[in-house]
Amino acid sequence: MREIAAQARTGGGPLRVAILDGSWAAAIAALQDTAIGDRMYPVSSDQIAEMLGPCGLTVGVLADDRLVGFFSLLFPGRQPESMGLPFGLVDGELDAVVHWTAVIVDPAFRGQRLQQRMVAAVDWRLFPESPHDYGFVTVRADNPPSLRSMLACGFAMVWAAPKFDGHLRHTLFRITPGDGAIPGGGEMVALMDLPRQMELMARGWIGWPQGAATGHVRFAPPVPGSLVDRIRARKRSG
Ligand SMILES: CC(C)(COP(=O)(O)OP(=O)(O)OC[C@H]1O[C@@H](n2cnc3c(N)ncnc32)[C@H](O)[C@@H]1OP(=O)(O)O)[C@@H](O)C(=O)NCCC(=O)NCCS
Repeated sequence: MREIAAQARTGGGPLRVAILDGSWAAAIAALQDTAIGDRMYPVSSDQIAEMLGPCGLTVGVLADDRLVGFFSLLFPGRQPESMGLPFGLVDGELDAVVHWTAVIVDPAFRGQRLQQRMVAAVDWRLFPESPHDYGFVTVRADNPPSLRSMLACGFAMVWAAPKFDGHLRHTLFRITPGDGAIPGGGEMVALMDLPRQMELMARGWIGWPQGAATGHVRFAPPVPGSLVDRIRARKRSG
């Protein structure tokens, strides 16, 4: 286990954010059993092994060495489950895809933005040296804390559709500084106004992480030629 940083503090003592190895599989399964709620599709023991293996990366939040939160990435490569495929990514581009896969925080530790902290720890500390350029995540449209966290971490809403679990899920794409200009203006849409969001996304607009009013997402068309525009333009079935 490699410690990233001491980042947060509760009344009980410091919380540590650390990269987890295979020895944490049982603790992840136990946290999922008690804290998953009804808005996340559960990960299987095989997926947990993948999340902790060479095709994944998992960070945990530890309170006195007890796991109170985790967040996982998977690198699907050219496997058929790559979220890059429905967006028309091909060949070497698929090697640069990363899925933000699973995140759970113990209810006793919610309300201090630990999801954002874990995502940010991975994003800022590990990705500057990584070749992974295309970051995707799906989040159920009725999961405001997770949607807010992913927007706060720089993801944009690019599509919404019923997914593998039968629930409407947003697909969000990670906007990086290299993606091109962030457009201004557009329309503020309430976080839970899915019908309006879907109308705008069907026109090619996206929900930007920047510039939203409280409880809202700012929808605007991407700047032509930017990475997110090119991703969005290839196929609208993602
Ligand atoms: C999703 C989860 C990890 C977030 O935990 P967390 O990091 O402690 O989240 P917080 O409680 O700090 O909330 C994050 C943001 O959502 C907001 N939020 C929380 N509950 C909300 C609600 N019911 N409605 C609207 N906004 C809400 C918070 O105000 C905060 O926004 P802000 O940063 O703008 O203030 C946690 O709720 C969880 O483990 N859920 C069960 C598993 C799950 O659904 N995982 C997500 C799968 S995609």
